Amino acid sequence: MQIVHVSAECYPVAKVGGLGDVVGSLPRFLNELGHDASVVMPMYRSSYLYNHDWEVVHKASSNLGHWWFDYTVIKEKSNAQGFELFLIDINGLLDREKVYGYEDDVERFCAFQIAFANWVCSWKKLPHVIHVHDHHAGLIPFIMQHTHAFKRLESVPSVLTIHNAQYQGSFGWDKTTYLPHWDSWKRGMLEWLGAINPLASAIKCAWKVTTVSNNYLGELKHMSNGLESLFEYEKGKCSGIINGIDYKVWDPSSDPYLNDHYSPLSFSEGKSKNKALLCNEFGLDPRKPLFVFIGRLVGEKGADLLPQSIHDSFQHIGRKMNFLVLGSGETEVESGLSLLKNYAKQDYNVYIGYNEKLSHLMYAGADFLLMPSRVEPCGLNQLYAMKYGTIPVVRETGGLKDTVKDMGEHGGYGITFIHPSVGDITHAIYRATELYHQKETFNNNRKKIMELDFSWTRSANDYVNLYQSFY
Ligand code: ADP
Ligand code: GLC
Repeated sequence: MQIVHVSAECYPVAKVGGLGDVVGSLPRFLNELGHDASVVMPMYRSSYLYNHDWEVVHKASSNLGHWWFDYTVIKEKSNAQGFELFLIDINGLLDREKVYGYEDDVERFCAFQIAFANWVCSWKKLPHVIHVHDHHAGLIPFIMQHTHAFKRLESVPSVLTIHNAQYQGSFGWDKTTYLPHWDSWKRGMLEWLGAINPLASAIKCAWKVTTVSNNYLGELKHMSNGLESLFEYEKGKCSGIINGIDYKVWDPSSDPYLNDHYSPLSFSEGKSKNKALLCNEFGLDPRKPLFVFIGRLVGEKGADLLPQSIHDSFQHIGRKMNFLVLGSGETEVESGLSLLKNYAKQDYNVYIGYNEKLSHLMYAGADFLLMPSRVEPCGLNQLYAMKYGTIPVVRETGGLKDTVKDMGEHGGYGITFIHPSVGDITHAIYRATELYHQKETFNNNRKKIMELDFSWTRSANDYVNLYQSFY
């Protein structure tokens, strides 16, 4: 089957979070199953663009309301990622350094989606499935189903995968002219709570909707930033498919970002070397257990709870552990974490920013990974951590609940807690610190998590079954 993925992110071209990892790996696994999956994304000004060779496959013009624009579709020549990768260039609009965060993001992603539909409409043979990811591509199912200009796409099945329903991309009706003409009585297919809501529209218009874990799908009916009742109405077409991870990128025995490689047979020495390197770089004491946090510093990830939890751990448990935080996000959280350095004595440090290489070293060198998320649709960090023998300490929510079993349960291998609160986090840190000193249990557990299988194999098959249900 020919499946076209449309997304704002795709690793290694452009990644802000897990969406990039998923779109950068799932298509390759679909291809390994004998399908023809490709990715279409905006052409940002990324280093990947300059380091690869491209060919122009299409040039045309289209319009965003009264504004006409030219667009060009380019294709990476060597299929370096294991799938065909297409970038849409709209001069002045998409060719920016960052993926998101511009004042004209609505215009940027609307124009991208219109250009995409315009291009696909020109194909001789239409794809079997168009698979859109999150709200940045969320208007595509509506455009395909209900706009006059793109009627040819009406019969192509569309799938929406929701990686994060917190962000919905809503904008006012004053921008309705951006969309190609549609019959005004179909307004309801765009609207949610008085605005044009691309995520809600995609939930209504896509043929099937998936979320990145089963547990998260259940949670959305109670807590989805205003879309609760919509998930209840549309539950018949929704399903949860857990993300896999790409062991070609995430494997401590071959990771090009690491100097010291290791496997489940040599993890103890391998992890110690990576830990020593990390502790040396950040002025930490390698004899103490090392807890790390990697991620966006936002409330959704529970990052605002970190400074107090770290402070309270030192106060109640003693200065028996190290913490290292990597991330960027909300200013108050960033400054709370930076200020905590004044209180730290070789047992806490923070790196504010995005650093792919450092993240790999942290997964490898840490003893524990903290994820006190309030919302976590799937979560990839805990899966990477486990492959690198780092024990996840996570809140029982979303995909974290589906992938991490507490050690207290039969067959468990992680440390979990229920509430996103300083008390629960501090208690989990206490449990982890105790575990660190029970060397045999600690080591057996590290080996066990490294051997768990979170590869794409099963989930890629689940997507194929979903696509095949249309035919
Ligand atoms: P989300 O997509 O919600 O941010 P995920 O757990 O799915 O969360 O994925 C986060 C991805 O982004 C992981 O690959 C993680 O290593 C990476 N990441 C997040 N913040 C940073 C950072 N500051 N530097 C490097 N990598 C980061
Ligand atoms: C989102 C979610 C995260 C998930 C990722 C990939 O960004 O917040 O939990 O792992 O998408 O699906």
